[in-house]
Amino acid sequence: PVLVVDFGAQYAQLIARRVREARIYSEVIAHDATVEEFAARNPVALVLSGGPSSVYADDAPAIDPAILELGIPVFGICYGFQSMAKALGGVVANTGGREFGRTTLTADGAGVLHQGLPAEQPVWMSHNDAVQVAPEGFEVVGSTPGAPVAAFENLDRRMAGVQYHPEVLHSPHGQQVLTRFLYEIAGLEPTWTAANIADALVEQVADQIGDGLAICGLSGGVDSAVAAALVQRAIGDRLTCVFVDHGLLRAGEREQVQHEFVGATGARLVTVDAAETFLSELAGVSDPETKRKIIGREFIRSFEGAVSDVLGDRAAAGDKVDFLVQGTLYPDVVESGGGSGTANIKSHHNVGGLPDDLEFTLVEPLRLLFKDEVRAVGRELGLPEEIVGRQPFPGPGLAIRIVGEVTADRLALLRTADQIAREELTAAGLDGQIWQCPVVLLADVRSVGVQGDGRTYGHPIVLRPVSSEDAMTADWTRIPYEVLEIISTRITNEVPDVNRVVLDVTSKPPGTIEWE
Ligand code: XMP
Repeated sequence: PVLVVDFGAQYAQLIARRVREARIYSEVIAHDATVEEFAARNPVALVLSGGPSSVYADDAPAIDPAILELGIPVFGICYGFQSMAKALGGVVANTGGREFGRTTLTADGAGVLHQGLPAEQPVWMSHNDAVQVAPEGFEVVGSTPGAPVAAFENLDRRMAGVQYHPEVLHSPHGQQVLTRFLYEIAGLEPTWTAANIADALVEQVADQIGDGLAICGLSGGVDSAVAAALVQRAIGDRLTCVFVDHGLLRAGEREQVQHEFVGATGARLVTVDAAETFLSELAGVSDPETKRKIIGREFIRSFEGAVSDVLGDRAAAGDKVDFLVQGTLYPDVVESGGGSGTANIKSHHNVGGLPDDLEFTLVEPLRLLFKDEVRAVGRELGLPEEIVGRQPFPGPGLAIRIVGEVTADRLALLRTADQIAREELTAAGLDGQIWQCPVVLLADVRSVGVQGDGRTYGHPIVLRPVSSEDAMTADWTRIPYEVLEIISTRITNEVPDVNRVVLDVTSKPPGTIEWE
């Protein structure tokens, strides 16, 4: 892979995505990994990411300089650019030339990195320090008002770097610059395509499961459907899909999974009715993390319970189901604290929410993929657009969209509100613009309203439409007022006990997409 070295900023994930958009496989690695750890991952190039520190701070994160001597191509970005400059003998200083936000890069003709791009281009900066003198053997190929050395390259050593952030959309030519480094300077070939990914994953899964039996929890979402389709391709009908109806689903979801997924794949499907168990386990609980842990645990208990159904007569022959397939994605892993040095924001039900005494070996073929890659693989496997194009819906379902205790009445109410919002957003043709739109019930909040001639004392419903590329960051979607008006009117008229509809206008960060 191309290893993106994480210096502790938010950018490493995004850079890995961008490298993959150039169709080259990429993973994140911690900056304090040893030379041996780097080498063990067979990197074809390194990208040093941005970071929060000054390279001259006492505790400034740095990679072992020996890593730069491995003979592999290196690209430095922002802090990574400075860190590389310093390690290779250049000079970095704080000259007061701070730049934050948009500035203009001048790169007129010299060098490979910016070839074919406009001589002046907008780029996104965020720095206090700047490289004053490039290391020996490096040609300066770009400058900005605050950074005379804003880009350099050394074609013999296949190394280059930029002070700005090419990975963000505010640097409109950034992706081209990164791609030029990968293709023209590092000499890499674009091989990370949906077809190759699917083939490699099918092979990996076949190796892992051998001649064992597996079950796959289907949630109705894209991820578990693609994971199941991959595993089915690898092991055929030694896979059984298990759909747990935990009573926290949206209107129509159970039927949809049964028809669409089975229709598309012909996979064996067992449905478990677990609504009563989930509700009784969730009774009296309003803390989000506790809810998530309970749901994670009960999912597993339901899978365990389904095993005897799955095995049927085979149990007598001594067969066992050893493997549980999950559609865990890279962002789930990172956000559940699985990426080194990352805070645990929330326990995704299928990562941090797993019980300790798990009886299955996990098979997680999508563990290193981003959502758009999962969709591409799903299409490659022949899944229909209704499945691969679907907006994400979290495994814990409506339970984490009721702020407060989860009860059957509250679920019914939220289900109606959610259905109305979905119908109207679809009718307005907004589905393509919206990543997903959680509809949230503030069950512990009441406000006074008036309906007919009487006073009401009801609950608010929150609409949380977001636009995103990968759910790691998101912005609130600007839904036209007319559409909001229809949704608001319908929800307050049609949903009992709801007398207010409010719109969440928070990006992520600082908010998360789901309220819990
Ligand atoms: P947050 O709320 O963390 O959500 O910004 C990011 C994305 O993840 C989804 N999500 C989950 N998906 N199990 C899932 O399968 C979970 O426990 C879970 N929690 C959040 C959320 O819907 C959004 O797409």
